[in-house]
Amino acid sequence: MSGNAILDDLRRDVAELAETGIVQVAQHGWDKPGLIPMWFGEGDQPTPAFICDAAAEAMRKGETFYTDQRGILPLRQALAAYTKRTFGVDVGTDEVSLVTAGMSALYLAMDMLIEPGDEVIAIGPVWPNIYSTVEIHGGVVRHASIELVDGDWRLDLDRLFALANDKTKAIFVNSPGNPTGWMMESDEQRALMEFARARGVWVIADEVYHQLVFDREVAPSFLQVAERDDKLLVVNSFSKSWLMTGWRLGWLTHPAALAPTIAKLVQITTSGVPQFLQRAAIAAIEDGDWVIRDLRARCKAGRDLVFDRLEAWPKLKLARPKAAFYAFFAVDGMTDSVEFAKKIIDEANVGLAPGSAFGPAGEGYLRLCFAASEATLARGLDALEPILGAGADQRRSA
Ligand SMILES: Cc1ncc(COP(=O)(O)O)c(C=O)c1O
Repeated sequence: MSGNAILDDLRRDVAELAETGIVQVAQHGWDKPGLIPMWFGEGDQPTPAFICDAAAEAMRKGETFYTDQRGILPLRQALAAYTKRTFGVDVGTDEVSLVTAGMSALYLAMDMLIEPGDEVIAIGPVWPNIYSTVEIHGGVVRHASIELVDGDWRLDLDRLFALANDKTKAIFVNSPGNPTGWMMESDEQRALMEFARARGVWVIADEVYHQLVFDREVAPSFLQVAERDDKLLVVNSFSKSWLMTGWRLGWLTHPAALAPTIAKLVQITTSGVPQFLQRAAIAAIEDGDWVIRDLRARCKAGRDLVFDRLEAWPKLKLARPKAAFYAFFAVDGMTDSVEFAKKIIDEANVGLAPGSAFGPAGEGYLRLCFAASEATLARGLDALEPILGAGADQRRSA
């Protein structure tokens, strides 16, 4: 009970929704003049003009009406063709549904599956909204942690399997991962899928960073190791690959049997995505490969610039990621990452995300998004160096 008659009427799971540590830190620094924001997971470039033009043209042509709840057929065809050319996997237009971005796809996945008391094993540290999405449905998160060993993030699959019990409804995997850049290889995906299949458990795979990889063409997808009608939901998004975070466009790849259910849930939530945005989505898929290539090159350059500096700072422990656009590093002696991130705002005027926001295994870490221009990154690092880089000179000369 909050003692406030209005708030006391809230559904318990809603009232208890945690505010993410990222927001707590952002509220501390939001209005500070000149702050260098590296806390959120997005690039600093606007959406390319040809994507905006496709939306504007469709709007002018009068494509302003309700559409099929799961997206117009040409878009679902484009998504199926994209899945084929990207992962070599055939999916039908009844197996892909357009939704209001990756976040909605996740919410919808949990809405379909999670009953109060169900458990979801989530591999973390991971983006906090995953935990909240389970919890708001009355589910319980069981944390399977990846660990930083010898300069690489590793998952112990046997430890993950040991977390499963009769209440386990789903296993959640975000690969490539936010905030670590950890990537699950195909053999691990196959082993996990087999385990899930044998137990009748769902796999919810968040693959929104599949294009942001630096050592190969594309990240391995669960779609490549799954059999048709496996209990698999793959969450995807236009946000990261095509610089479209503000458009709120994403998609879910799912067993065909779920299409009518998804249509019903979309009906009673958003009732679908505006048609002119769907035309922009088609343009991105069909003509946007260069956007992905450019972004990947920019992020790789950003990663190398950031890691060349951070690796020389002795107080930090970190692994140069092969994917996504984050540096996630441990700071020697830091025990409260929210307070430390606030101190960084006060003293360096740089916004970083606190590691504790990403689950219990994230405390002790900070996250920096390197999807920014070299000039911005250099300015940010210069400002951070007095706090995080103490002792760097001795090590360089040692
Ligand atoms: C792991 C992960 N999944 C999903 C999303 C959701 O992205 P969007 O809702 O913009 O598609 C994000 C955004 O940061 C993310 O990091």
